[in-house]
Amino acid sequence: MTDNSAPESESSSSQMSPNRRSKLRLFLTLIPFSILSFLIFQELQSKDNLTPKTLSLDGIYVPEPGLEGDLLVSLGFIAEPRLYPQSYHMNTELPVFVIALGPEDINSFHRFLGSFRIYYREKRLVVYNLGITGDERNMIKQTCQCIVREVHWERYPSHVRDLGIKAFRPFLIQETLHEFGVVFWTHAAMRFNSSNLDALRHTAETHGISTWPMRNLPTSSLTHYQTLRYLHEKPSNLRFQRMAEPNMALYYNTYRLHYKLMMPWVKCALEKECVAPRAARSKGCQLQKPRYLYTGCHSYDTSVFNVLLGKTFLYETPYMSEKPVFQLEYVKGNA
Ligand SMILES: *[C@@H]1O[C@H](CO)[C@@H](O)[C@H](O)[C@H]1NC(C)=O
Repeated sequence: MTDNSAPESESSSSQMSPNRRSKLRLFLTLIPFSILSFLIFQELQSKDNLTPKTLSLDGIYVPEPGLEGDLLVSLGFIAEPRLYPQSYHMNTELPVFVIALGPEDINSFHRFLGSFRIYYREKRLVVYNLGITGDERNMIKQTCQCIVREVHWERYPSHVRDLGIKAFRPFLIQETLHEFGVVFWTHAAMRFNSSNLDALRHTAETHGISTWPMRNLPTSSLTHYQTLRYLHEKPSNLRFQRMAEPNMALYYNTYRLHYKLMMPWVKCALEKECVAPRAARSKGCQLQKPRYLYTGCHSYDTSVFNVLLGKTFLYETPYMSEKPVFQLEYVKGNA
């Protein structure tokens, strides 16, 4: 018995007790874990440092040379922009109406055009081609007396070509505003029922824009938090701001509209993470209680537009018109 116990006590003194050994083993196995978690922590931190990229919203800004700068200059963001009014604006029929047409809009567009020509026989209509076929394009050219235009997609970052996020809209609105000074942006579901634009003109000349409510929801409910962060905005400011529709609005290229709305709107639309954050979706909204909480749906260009309106007009909506000069063809489904 004593012979047997001797080597045991010897081994434990030269090596270590099983208890200490298992502690050491545990410690050794933990080292890779701690290194790994340290790396993950670092990775997360550097990501966090990258994400809060924001947009500079300072008043006057002159684009710097380079690809983005050239695009902004061509859109009219120059040292002395062509603001409304200019003397040549007085001799032209304003507003100029503008519509962007995709293949799915063609049938509806013929009815749009019918009502447009009844109420606005003399007005110019610019039609942007968002992918209508050659035949349809030729037919529009022959019958509509419109100015048919192609979009210079090659000038824009690739996300602008994704028609689902509508990032093309601020660019085309700006392009036509720079050219014509006063633009009524329209879409194919509109059916005009009045030619009296006096009230709208008055509002838009004063504020730079006259528009209509989009849905009965506040901006905070349809704006992804990353877009808000980009634009230095808090959701709480937008809880009671009724969302306006950029897709049917009368725009005047006034000083305020140019610098406070169009410039930051276009700059935001140039950056995918500003207008369409990676996690943002436009489908599957879930109305929350209270209604101002985020529904899970982001409205892309429209969200940005409304955030900027909020900043410009201190969350009041003097640009909102109640009485429309049109009906919407799909108005039943909307209600
Ligand atoms: C045009 O239609 C809208 C929407 O139905 C209506 O509110 C408005 O009063 C109409 N305007 C005229 C002049 O009939």
